[in-house]
Amino acid sequence: MEDTNTYEFAWLPGDGIGPEVTREALRVLDAVASAHGFAFTAEEHPMGGAALDAAGVPFPDATRTACLESDAVLLGAVGGPAWDDATSDRRPESGLLALREALGVYANLRPVIVPEALADASPLRPNRVGGTDILFVRELTGGIYFGIPEGRADDGARSTMVYSEDEIERIAHVAFQRAQRRDGHVTSVDKANVLAVSELWREVVTRVRDDHYPDVDLRHLYVDNAAMQVVRDPKQFDVLLTGNLFGDILSDLAAALPGSLGLLPSASVGGTVGLFEPVHGSAPDIAGQDVANPIGTILSAALLLDEVGEPEAADAVRHGVDAALDAGLRTADLATPDEEPVSTSTFGREVATRAADHTHQNASASLS
Ligand code: NAD
Ligand code: IPM
Ligand code: MN
Repeated sequence: MEDTNTYEFAWLPGDGIGPEVTREALRVLDAVASAHGFAFTAEEHPMGGAALDAAGVPFPDATRTACLESDAVLLGAVGGPAWDDATSDRRPESGLLALREALGVYANLRPVIVPEALADASPLRPNRVGGTDILFVRELTGGIYFGIPEGRADDGARSTMVYSEDEIERIAHVAFQRAQRRDGHVTSVDKANVLAVSELWREVVTRVRDDHYPDVDLRHLYVDNAAMQVVRDPKQFDVLLTGNLFGDILSDLAAALPGSLGLLPSASVGGTVGLFEPVHGSAPDIAGQDVANPIGTILSAALLLDEVGEPEAADAVRHGVDAALDAGLRTADLATPDEEPVSTSTFGREVATRAADHTHQNASASLS
């Protein structure tokens, strides 16, 4: 009999809806694990506002150590009105940046697809958005989020957008390699008509393509035009390569294509340990009501399974989500006025059951 692989995941529920949505992702992981021959632990650690309240800092040393020693980190979201008046080093969000930096996860992958069942949920016409399949490759540990100098002065404040050639090169490699496994197109986003840092970005991305990926098609767009194009004709994009700030903004914009920010997952990779979190935040307006959409977090758990080497279990999770949507189940963010929404926990349970069924069906198919 084969040994069971046991993964150690660090579970950082965080604030607002973070605990609600990560709980459902763990439920779904649990539903597929044993049938796919692995087990896991998910030790909980304080992060963000919850950590500020408990330990006085948003990213405690014990959380850092646990994350670095884990096989992967599953995070909910951080932040909320209770901590909004604090200065930057005592904000939940600065803890999240410190976590990303500590793990070294410079490549943030944010897939945006419009599931067939949801083409009607989009604010755009179904024929415009149906078939959308974009992969955002967002640089995550540099740019204006980490540039120095940064801070307040007597007469103003400054933040600095900085990229080294090395930082641009390594994220460009990620984008081109992903494109080779997809449709072979990269669109790189910048503001090279204004910013020196974007001039360098464009130059380096072009060079990386010319030197290493002549088979990949590369196009450059200014960020303002890119925002418009994502709405006007999302199907023109394959891989969208961005710096840290532009990727943050454009990925929330792209969440409107399938109709809810609650749908989008992310994987942050390239460092010592991968970090998996939904694209959305702590959604204080709906926290604690069991109404949040857990799909973004459940699909982040699928990306986690891909990354640790369990692609079949990852497919079972994705199948569970699709099957629940095909069955007409909708959380409040997606339900139309004539649809009765289901709760976060009900949706999670329904996905878990379907993901497990898929696993068992495949197992019996391969035995027969
Ligand atoms: P948000 O993403 O939390 O919410 C934006 C809107 O989307 C809200 O109307 C919210 O109800 C809705 N929404 C988000 N996730 C949803 C889900 N799963 N299901 C249904 N609806 C969902 O952004 P915000 O309101 O600007 O920020 C709230 C807090 O979250 C802030 O403190 C912000 O800094 C923080 N934040 C954290 C992260 C993170 O931890 N990665 C990301 C973004 C924002
Ligand atoms: C995200 C969030 C974070 C970011 C914030 C909370 C630091 O908006 O993950 O998209 O800007 O990266
Ligand atoms: Mn964001």
